[in-house]
This record gives sequence, structure tokens and C-alpha cells, in this order.
Amino acid sequence: MAQQIQIDQPRLTSELATLATFTDAEPVSNGTSVTRIVFSPDDLRARAWLKELATADGFEVRDDAVGNIFIRWTGTDPDAPAVATGSHTDAIPHAGMYDGTVGVLGGLEAMRTLKRSGLQPRRSIELVMFTSEEPTRFGIGCLGSRLMSGTLDPKQADALREANEPADTAKTLAQVRTAAGFTGDLASVKLSPNHYHAWLELHIEQGPLLEREGTPLGIVTSIAAPAGYRFTISGLGGHAGALLMPDRKDALCAAAELILAIEKHALATHVIDTVATVGTCDVHPGAVNSVPSRVVLQLDIRDTDPTRRESVMQAIRRDIETLRQRRGVIITEQIINADAPAQSSPHLVELLEEVCATHGISPRKMVSRAYHDSLFMARIAPIAMIFIPCRNGVSHRPDEYATPAHTTLGVQVLASALAKLASE
Ligand code: GLV
Ligand code: MN
Ligand code: MN
Ligand code: MN
Repeated sequence: MAQQIQIDQPRLTSELATLATFTDAEPVSNGTSVTRIVFSPDDLRARAWLKELATADGFEVRDDAVGNIFIRWTGTDPDAPAVATGSHTDAIPHAGMYDGTVGVLGGLEAMRTLKRSGLQPRRSIELVMFTSEEPTRFGIGCLGSRLMSGTLDPKQADALREANEPADTAKTLAQVRTAAGFTGDLASVKLSPNHYHAWLELHIEQGPLLEREGTPLGIVTSIAAPAGYRFTISGLGGHAGALLMPDRKDALCAAAELILAIEKHALATHVIDTVATVGTCDVHPGAVNSVPSRVVLQLDIRDTDPTRRESVMQAIRRDIETLRQRRGVIITEQIINADAPAQSSPHLVELLEEVCATHGISPRKMVSRAYHDSLFMARIAPIAMIFIPCRNGVSHRPDEYATPAHTTLGVQVLASALAKLASE
């Protein structure tokens, strides 16, 4: 198979560049800045364009009630559970052009290549573009795959509100998806546990290891466990000139201490796999001459060991108790998600290793510290992921970059693996 697979590298490179033009971000000089928030006009344009590409190649296209897109190549045994691949095309503010997109356009290119090679797959091969892998708009990532795997209750999902809008104007997912044309019942998104025979996701590494080692490809053996929390700190606001310092309960000063406590406890595990980030900080009323009365922080905390992640949370909560007493503020905690890690299927890892061997590659087996829709697909299907190097390990930035050669190699390995799995 390896010799027959001829990926159209110029087309893939040019399609990645075209997809990057569907962006809200201003151009930058150090790369390609992409902002494509779920159900924004650019996201909707990107979806329409992807569907056109897939239709032009004769694949069947459908989307579900949350907007997950399914691009299907029906096999000679259409009732056999399909082999599937995919990723996401939404992008966080000021991100790059490879995160997720390589798995979607690369997956499409893999299917086209196999079709062109004359393969007639026994199992259907399906490409999935997931809705809102990124948490930007609704505060929680992997919306599409959480619903598909039955991890998120459909009613709770529909009630999710825009995370970065004021509480009185934030729209719900139900409102936003309806306006985007996705009106079905979210309960219909869930797939049965044997719907897919196997699931593969191609993605950039988003870390430095492959590049550092000069290894062109990684096989993910497990995905770290992410969690998200929202803290609301309420103090006492007032005039920045007139409210005397000893009388203050400044919510932002308390938030600053909390952020540093989070960093301290994440570092205190002395384990490289513990990471904690406060990535947003909304200050109310947000005026230079007004003492902050309320602050909302979003915390992203991850670990390969969920027990260790929870012990960091417990240490943070103890500091919160002290902070409350010392500063006289109220601090409330809202859990957004606390997910378990996922393990790749040993069979799929082995199959990918075999495919790599036919391409003359010794892949690195590795943990994914970033989360992916595969984390949730693992609950309903055997999964594995293929990583390709990205320059300096950079991701979620405009200077994110993967070479056409690495991207093409990833697609080649993906295509060979899909072909093997489709005949199982
Ligand atoms: C998803 O993009 C993540 O934050 O890992
Ligand atoms: Mn991302
Ligand atoms: Mn991604
Ligand atoms: Mn991700």
C-alpha cells in the first residue's frame, strides 16, 4: 500500500492556506493569525467550503444537531461499523492555521487519495469535523465529541452560555446553534458504542518533543486529563480616590493572589505533567478609577494523573479559604468539566507502528498533553492519534507551523491505516 499512496501535497498545502483565510483576526507579520470561533460567520463559511470540497469528490455529507459534519465514503459493506477520522476547524483567538485543520483537511486528502488509488473499502470511511473543540465561546471544549459520546447531557449543553459575554446578554448554545441553522434535538447527536470500528485523529504535536528529537511522527498512547473551573471573586467596589486603602476588599487583588496560589500548587507537584493556567480574567466594572468589585477567572488544569490533579485543587481550595478570611471577599467555585484521561487502543497503536515501518519511520510513542476530540471518542470507540512535529513546539499562536513534508507524511500514514482498518 505504502508505494501506491500519493498524497497531493500542493493541494493540501493550498487548502490549508485557504481555510486560514476564514478568520476574524487581523493579519500579523510573524505568521498567520486565525480566529475562528464556533458559529461565527467565519466558522460558518469554513463549514460551507469544506462541505463543497467533500461533495465535489463524491462523498456524502451530513451534519447533526450540534453541527458536527460527517463526510462519508460508503464501503462495500455499508452496515459494518465504519472506520473514522477527523478533528476540528474552530480556532481560539489569535491562533495559528494548523491546529485541528491538519486532521480535517488531511483526513479528506487521505480519503481522496485512497479513492484515487482504486481502493474499494469494505467498511465505510468517515471524516468528522467536530463542533467547538475549543472552549472559547461556551467555556467548555469538545462540545461535539462530548455529545457524540454521551459525556455531556444534551439539556445541560443547550443551556450553556457564552463565556465571554456579560451574564445578561450571553446567549445559550440553543440560541446560537438555532441561529446558525442547527435546530434538531441534541439528544440525537449521541452515537452508539459500536458505531465506529476504529477512530484515528491526525494532529500537530503542539509540543517540542518530535522536533527536538528529529522524529517525523508520533503515536499517541494516552491523552492527559483536563479540567476547567470558574472562580468568581466578589469584594467591595468604590471610588479609586476616595475609598480608603484599609477599608478595601479589592476583588482583583484577591484574584491576583489566587492566580499565584494556583501556579504555586501546580509547581509543587514537581511533576512535568501537572499544568495549570488562568487564561481569562474579567474585571468588573473595569474602569481605571473604580476599585474592582467582582472578578471572574477561568482555570484550565490538566494532569496525566487525575488524582494528582484533584490534590492540587484541594491545595488551591485551602488557600482560597485563607484568602477569604484575610481579605473579606467571597470566592465561589464552579466546575466546568473534570475529565478522565484516555488510553489509545493497543491494536491501533500496533497497526500504526506497522504502517510507519512500511514507510521507513520509527515513530515516538507519546502522551498528548493537549486534549482532543479523541479523548471523548475513546469512550465509544478504539482510538489512536498520529502527531506530526510543529516548529519550536508552538501552538495556539500565529507562528504555529508544520512543514508540508511532515503534514504529507502524516496523511500518508493516516491513509494507509484507514485502508487497513477498512478491510478488517
Ligand atoms: C485544546 O485545544 C486544548 O486546549 O488542548
Ligand atoms: Mn487548540
Ligand atoms: Mn486541536
Ligand atoms: Mn486541542
